[in-house]
Amino acid sequence: MASQTNSNQPRSRLIIHDLARRNGHADFARDIHRGLTSNPKHLFPKYLYDELGSRLFEAICQVDEYYLTRAEDEILTTHAGEIVSSVPSCETLIELGSGSAEKTRKIIEALIRQRGELLFVPVDISASALEESSHSLLDSYPNLRIDAYAADYFQALAALPKRDAPALVLFLGSNIGNFERDQATDFLRGIRGVLHRGDALLLGADLKKDRAVLEAAYNDSLGVTRSFIINELERINRELNANFDLWAFGLRSVYNESLGRVEVYLESLRDQSVTIRGLNLTISLQVGERIHVENAYKFDPEDLRKLGAQTGFSLERTWLDQQGKFSSNLFRVD
Ligand code: TRP
Repeated sequence: MASQTNSNQPRSRLIIHDLARRNGHADFARDIHRGLTSNPKHLFPKYLYDELGSRLFEAICQVDEYYLTRAEDEILTTHAGEIVSSVPSCETLIELGSGSAEKTRKIIEALIRQRGELLFVPVDISASALEESSHSLLDSYPNLRIDAYAADYFQALAALPKRDAPALVLFLGSNIGNFERDQATDFLRGIRGVLHRGDALLLGADLKKDRAVLEAAYNDSLGVTRSFIINELERINRELNANFDLWAFGLRSVYNESLGRVEVYLESLRDQSVTIRGLNLTISLQVGERIHVENAYKFDPEDLRKLGAQTGFSLERTWLDQQGKFSSNLFRVD
């Protein structure tokens, strides 16, 4: 009797595979060295998401100017039933870049309503975000099991076990826009590789729109986005023994309309040099010099259909929020 009660305890329904920790420090050091000695200099977006960075990103999702999260949440709230009924006997829900998994709750609830139980496989670069979100989900849903991967996307796709039952994959929040085009196709092919015919992918994609709206979304007036980005410099200070002056950088987010992307940069506010003792490296920056941090590509519905066609998916259905800012796209495995 006791063991039966125990087997339903949240912890017994959770496995976390921590792949991100392997070689984590060495990879970080190598990448930062490469990025800061390149011309132009750049940083790596995946290192934004340490424990504090993941929390700062959650805060971005709540600022006024960052409309993406609210728009996507509206779509998922309104259409969760339809979305999950597109994979009628879905037993496994996989999410890449799950973060706090708050929006995912709409889909999880609809799937549990449909099937009675569910296996959720979240993947996130931040082990702390995964742990926190997993415990919170398991407390909410007694018929949920979680098999989580702390890993980057490609590592996780390679590590997922073989599976026969139908699955739905989520890639939300316009994370697809943070890839270059060739990376996006590699990534979608990677997802296709772990799926079977009839499985589906729900892909969030932000739409092209007015420059002012886009630039404000990536440089909010409260300065949360700036803190989120500056936190990567703080991480370099802490983990690689560097002396970045965090006040000596501003955030520049610029919509490059011809390339359809918001480019996010840190800009040096004065001539300065920075020593990264852990890398045995001193770099200099001129006033106005930019360090590239991330691109956020924006899409037309036609771009998305093509992206699917190149990677083994058909675009079956697109939902927009009421204001028509954001899209959720259901792709079927051909
Ligand atoms: N996937 C998010 C996006 O493209 C990530 C993000 C939001 C982001 N704000 C940012 C990345 C600011 C860098 C800088 O919308």
